[in-house]
Amino acid sequence: MNLFDVYPLFDINIVKGKGCRVWDENGQEYLDLYGGHAVISIGHAHPHYVEKISEQVGKLGFYSNSVINKLQQQVAERLGKLSGYEDYSLFLINSGAEANENALKLASFYNGRTRILSVQKAFHGRTSLAVEATANPKIIAPINANGHVTYLPLNDIEAYRTELEKEDVCAVIVEGIQGVGGIQLPTSEFLQELSRLCEKHHAVFIMDEIQSGYGRSGKFFAHQYCEGLRPDMITVAKGIANGFPMGGVLISPKFAPVYGQLGTTFGGNHLACAAALAVMDVIEQENLVNNAAEVGAFLISELKKFPQIKEVRGRGLMIGMEFEDPIKDIRLKLLKEEHVFTGVSGTHVIRLLPPLALSMDEAKEFLTRFERVLS
Ligand SMILES: Cc1ncc(COP(=O)(O)O)c(C=O)c1O
Repeated sequence: MNLFDVYPLFDINIVKGKGCRVWDENGQEYLDLYGGHAVISIGHAHPHYVEKISEQVGKLGFYSNSVINKLQQQVAERLGKLSGYEDYSLFLINSGAEANENALKLASFYNGRTRILSVQKAFHGRTSLAVEATANPKIIAPINANGHVTYLPLNDIEAYRTELEKEDVCAVIVEGIQGVGGIQLPTSEFLQELSRLCEKHHAVFIMDEIQSGYGRSGKFFAHQYCEGLRPDMITVAKGIANGFPMGGVLISPKFAPVYGQLGTTFGGNHLACAAALAVMDVIEQENLVNNAAEVGAFLISELKKFPQIKEVRGRGLMIGMEFEDPIKDIRLKLLKEEHVFTGVSGTHVIRLLPPLALSMDEAKEFLTRFERVLS
């Protein structure tokens, strides 16, 4: 059997990782400024993470959601404290798309409506409603094109006001920082007013922090740069378990749980919870949110000095560098000649999404290699 060939691959087989570095099967070392697409939060093969997962799988990897799972309760408690959402509840699933799917579904159960407002260039995942909320017609299959979603420009509050005043909007979904869309930031004024309008017109306000959350922006959630903002739901995945598949929805107390309304076989399993708890241990012990803020601010200010870059955008360790011309060759040179992994958004933006543990020395090492490629 062959693999279903949907990924355009680099001809590199990564077999080992440690901290912010990975190695291929020939022993070539790479600096990881991509974090496996923003997934590696605490660094590759962190000893505490390895120990906790190994310990858990030796005891119990999985049992069903029909019995008490105290590890899930611990994840909820710890995440509540770490994120500043102690009064919210947590629903656990296995991926980012599932997190958004469940958030949108819960919103619709809540207010009985079916219309979603999403942002142009947004990415929310590939399942049915999540993909419909994703503003990319190439990945929306005809069966998912059900006319639920209106896409509006980021930060154009009047466009959202006009739609919300129709009193038929179920939910508005916005990324903390747009990732796939090219590292675009919502303004605080936009988010504040949007939240107020949602409340006024009985629409549910969902922040997708799947890429921008878990410390990546230099605050636990990117929307926390907007003081006092309390979305109705916040979706998380990626960094939550450092590569173990896991997603979550943080749900405001205004939603009452109903038995059987949401559910999953694998979501919140014992092994995933052990991984998530280990990640939170390391984030706290190693002060990784502050590290992302500091190293990210340094990187952004240094990158702004490169005349070859048209614009540098981002916060913490979620950084986009937009070029006048397509970046394909630069990225390829970085990978093949300088052995640095980076990401992209579209054709003109290089995206940096390293582990939150990236050190100042590693940031400087990246800048040196990057300079060589650009010169
Ligand atoms: C903002 C955002 N939302 C949702 C998703 C979907 O997550 P997953 O691929 O885990 O389903 C992604 C993935 O890149 C994302 O960046």
